Amino acid sequence: MAKKLLLIVLLASHLFVSRVLSGSILTIENNCNQTVWPVIFSYDSNLSTTGFPLRSGEARILQAPSSWFGLISARTLCSTNSSGSFSCATGDCESGIIECPGTYKWSAVTYVYFRIDNGGVNSYTINVERGYNLPLLVVPSQPSQTCITAGCLVDLNKTCPEDLGLFTGGKQIGCSSACQKYDTKEICCTHDFRSKQRCKTTMYTHNFEQALPTRI
Ligand SMILES: *[C@@H]1O[C@H](CO)[C@@H](O)[C@H](O)[C@H]1NC(C)=O
Ligand SMILES: *[C@@H]1O[C@H](CO)[C@@H](O)[C@H](O)[C@H]1NC(C)=O
Ligand SMILES: *[C@@H]1O[C@H](CO)[C@@H](O)[C@H](O)[C@H]1NC(C)=O
Ligand SMILES: *[C@@H]1O[C@H](CO)[C@@H](O)[C@H](O)[C@H]1NC(C)=O
Repeated sequence: MAKKLLLIVLLASHLFVSRVLSGSILTIENNCNQTVWPVIFSYDSNLSTTGFPLRSGEARILQAPSSWFGLISARTLCSTNSSGSFSCATGDCESGIIECPGTYKWSAVTYVYFRIDNGGVNSYTINVERGYNLPLLVVPSQPSQTCITAGCLVDLNKTCPEDLGLFTGGKQIGCSSACQKYDTKEICCTHDFRSKQRCKTTMYTHNFEQALPTRI
């Protein structure tokens, strides 16, 4: 795989090592060329942080509770303005600070869902349903038939339809999904358009389908 991997979320399960259900270790590694600010949102229980900076080449190890369901995304191009309010060009959680307490602010970013349960079954899904801001890869520490390396490595930037591009100062910083941008029943395949027959592949979905899932 010659493609440059930007953000790696590494999931290392400790559940098979010990009978004490100690949860899983999540290592978030920034292989980007730039600092990113991961966001962690938990639907139940909590991790020790909800948001932090990760410089290029840095990794941070987090202990997940024995039962955890949540998601990880990352913010890019963040800064603190003169009144001390922190914000980011992509994936901003609108907290005004680096931590992201409260509800998850959905935006056009790549995110990964994790489900870790007491039985030792871990699962994850990379999702670009809302859009895309970074390539993201999940690497299990013990690869198996059911636990594979999965990720989104294609540079959607380059194939992003013009109307869906996210720009700052003329520079493309991400790609929105058509559903996130236009929010119609037809494009999002909701309500009457949920069925396979009525949910039509558009140029928009084609762009994202090409990228997911990547198995290496
Ligand atoms: C990474 O950053 C360096 C220094 O800013 C730059 O020269 C290089 O082109 C960048 N590489 C990529 C892939 O963006
Ligand atoms: C998680 O953290 C939030 C904010 O600190 C808190 O309100 C909530 O009760 C915590 N939930 C659990 C299950 O610990
Ligand atoms: C800083 O950002 C906050 C939140 O967006 C905004 O309310 C405030 O006006 C900004 N301050 C300056 C000096 O731009
Ligand atoms: C998207 O494209 C812009 C320039 O076209 C580049 O600066 C940026 O790094 C790209 N983003 C990713 C995630 O590759």
